[in-house]
Amino acid sequence: MKDFALKGDILYSKSLNKVSQHENSYLVCVDGKSEGVYKKLPAKYKGIKVYDYSGYLIIPGLVDMHLHAPQYIFVGLHMDLKLLDWLNTYTFPAEAKYKNLSFAKKAYDIFVHDLTLSSTTRFSMFATIHNEATLYLMNELEKTGFKGYVGKVNMDRNSPKYLIETTNKSVKNTLEWLDACEDFKNIKPIITPRFIPTCSDKLMKELSKIMIDKNLPVQSHLSENRSEIEWVKELMPKVKNYEEGYNKYGMLGTTTKSIMAHYVWPDEKGIELMKNGNVWVAHSPASNRNLSSGMAPIGRYLREGIKVGLATDVAGGSYLSMFRAIEDTITTSKVRNCLFDSEYYNVTIEQALYLATLGGGEFFGKVGSFDKGYEFDAIVLNERDIPTVLMSELNLLERFERYIYRSHTNVYAKFIAGKKIV
Ligand code: GUN
Ligand code: FE
Repeated sequence: MKDFALKGDILYSKSLNKVSQHENSYLVCVDGKSEGVYKKLPAKYKGIKVYDYSGYLIIPGLVDMHLHAPQYIFVGLHMDLKLLDWLNTYTFPAEAKYKNLSFAKKAYDIFVHDLTLSSTTRFSMFATIHNEATLYLMNELEKTGFKGYVGKVNMDRNSPKYLIETTNKSVKNTLEWLDACEDFKNIKPIITPRFIPTCSDKLMKELSKIMIDKNLPVQSHLSENRSEIEWVKELMPKVKNYEEGYNKYGMLGTTTKSIMAHYVWPDEKGIELMKNGNVWVAHSPASNRNLSSGMAPIGRYLREGIKVGLATDVAGGSYLSMFRAIEDTITTSKVRNCLFDSEYYNVTIEQALYLATLGGGEFFGKVGSFDKGYEFDAIVLNERDIPTVLMSELNLLERFERYIYRSHTNVYAKFIAGKKIV
């Protein structure tokens, strides 16, 4: 791979509360990895290509920890119901359409096109139960240059007859899908039981075996909505809490890496299971608001050392833009504090940048920073259409904050693992 550098105003997170800011500097990429940031281009890089983004803000690519690719066809619609009715009324019928490969191709082409222009560089996404359509999606993402995880969804109970598998078929399809995934270099499979209500005990055990045998990560939904939590109690009367419902299959980070979407309503005992450092909460404030699920206590999770990444959760979430997920993470934390939390703990702009980059990025390896050795995921932001006479007085974090609140547009340029995508 050709080495190159980006020149511009470079901002990235060092840790939850600390950012690194480098005005008018060079960010060097060698073999798809960051070589670090330099005020002057070192002599040894003389002659490499320099993309001149002088005056533009350059930040690490954003990580969308949880979204549903098939649901993009109805993003921005259907926000009048709560989770379980929303699934039955809108979501399951929409996902059933992906049995038809020519429909799936048209829908996924639009999705991949829009995702390409967005700020997202890494992701973990759900597809549907259908192998062919899922492989098509993975192939398109791979061709574009994305890196991330895609899951063929499993569901063998409490699902409509047009979107359900028998347990045996679900396992067989999963194994066949995993075989077919071996050719992908950058798009990797992730085990994806939809959530406990749609997955029998037998299926969960089989998926757990596959996950451990093949050392694959797992993603699912946890404690999103209060009716869902009550239902899980009825489905698993002997299990102490919803968290334990996944943990007993090794799916909360005890065997392989895990992403649990939402986690709006932690159980006071179950929350201890979320602190092992190998399970990430995918926080999607827009979805939690649209489906009237609630406001996840992200401030608490951060204080208690639970791993958190940000997510759009398309199409419970009504946008594909991780910029908006950052804004909503901050604003939702404030509303939540006003209503419930006795202790003042708003998510700050520094923290939200961290969560959208390094916080989720860690799930993918060395991702989310420009320190030497990190994969070279970078996006370039254009503030030209939001001018202010104060611009020269603003530091890079302030410019980023302003960009988040004022502009939710696509990126000016985008690089994933050193490959220019936009
Ligand atoms: N829980 C189970 N399936 C889904 C889904 O598709 N979206 C959301 N938001 N929650 C879920
Ligand atoms: Fe979801």
